[in-house]
Amino acid sequence: MKKMFLKLLLLCLWRLNGVFGESVMEGDSVSLNSPLTEMKNDDVIQWRFGDENTVIAEINATADRITVYDDVLDGRFRDRLKLDNQTGSLTITDTTTEHEGDYELRINSEIKRFSIAVYNEVKSVSVKEGDSVTLNSDLTEMKDGDVIQWRFGDENTVIAVINKPNDRITVHDDVLDGRFRDRLKLDNQTGSLTITNTTTEHDGDYKLLMFPGRLSSKVFRVSVYDSVHCCGPTEAVIRLVLSALVGVATVIIVVYEIRSRRAEQDQAHIHTSGSIEI
Ligand SMILES: *[C@@H]1O[C@H](CO)[C@@H](O)[C@H](O)[C@H]1NC(C)=O
Ligand SMILES: *[C@@H]1O[C@H](CO)[C@@H](O)[C@H](O)[C@H]1NC(C)=O
Ligand SMILES: *[C@@H]1O[C@H](CO)[C@@H](O)[C@H](O)[C@H]1NC(C)=O
Ligand SMILES: *[C@@H]1O[C@H](CO)[C@@H](O)[C@H](O)[C@H]1NC(C)=O
Repeated sequence: MKKMFLKLLLLCLWRLNGVFGESVMEGDSVSLNSPLTEMKNDDVIQWRFGDENTVIAEINATADRITVYDDVLDGRFRDRLKLDNQTGSLTITDTTTEHEGDYELRINSEIKRFSIAVYNEVKSVSVKEGDSVTLNSDLTEMKDGDVIQWRFGDENTVIAVINKPNDRITVHDDVLDGRFRDRLKLDNQTGSLTITNTTTEHDGDYKLLMFPGRLSSKVFRVSVYDSVHCCGPTEAVIRLVLSALVGVATVIIVVYEIRSRRAEQDQAHIHTSGSIEI
């Protein structure tokens, strides 16, 4: 009971501190970074995973020993763990949903927590430049303990956060040269994000990290098409007319070919029969 309470308390503190998770596409690698830049002689570093806090990797600098316990937990980490012997950072390669969950880094007596969500589906959304696009969290209502975070692009830049425990809604629309400035609308009930007046600069992957209970993630691949190059109404009409013209021309040519062949055959026929008659 006491342990559970402590765990809950830790979880709350952790969330309030804004330490959050990583989200990775199934099959890709993910790195959990240690704050160390180099190992001291007497450092002991341990990585633990899951509800049972199972030790999966360890560095004992005194003994100059690096150990990876990748046969634990039914071997789900086998040949998948890489431990940086300078910093203690951990990389998990070829991730599957079995690697989803909570990780703990112990450096001497200090504890740092991480959470990983593995996703295997990317939703494609396309929007015409200048229009708005809404990325749905599919949550009907955020609860008091929930935290969600929207990230954009390869650098996973945080663009919006709803932190219910802190009662805080933050839109970071000044990041990335202000390309999102005054363009982000965050639904404070569902966490859904709307990008208004889109430009091609908003092309890219949007990751939603949700923390109701356990970390989960959703990814949207937004492509913004500009009205000149594709699918504008005028262009569409011109294309339609052109293809219709080509179609009509093809039919005319085919009919003409058939007719002239028939005419030739008929003539040959007349000729032949004529010669028989004679
Ligand atoms: C690290 O290695 C040293 C030397 O082998 C040993 O005395 C110590 O107990 C080890 N520490 C841990 C935490 O395993
Ligand atoms: C640390 O890693 C480097 C490069 O990966 C390697 O050359 C070195 O032997 C490693 N040191 C230990 C103590 O394992
Ligand atoms: C949530 O949004 C509604 C409507 O936009 C607004 O009235 C309310 O103040 C917002 N709540 C918070 C906590 O920002
Ligand atoms: C949309 O963005 C363009 C620049 O990309 C700006 O010139 C225009 O005023 C914006 N329109 C609205 C309605 O905000």
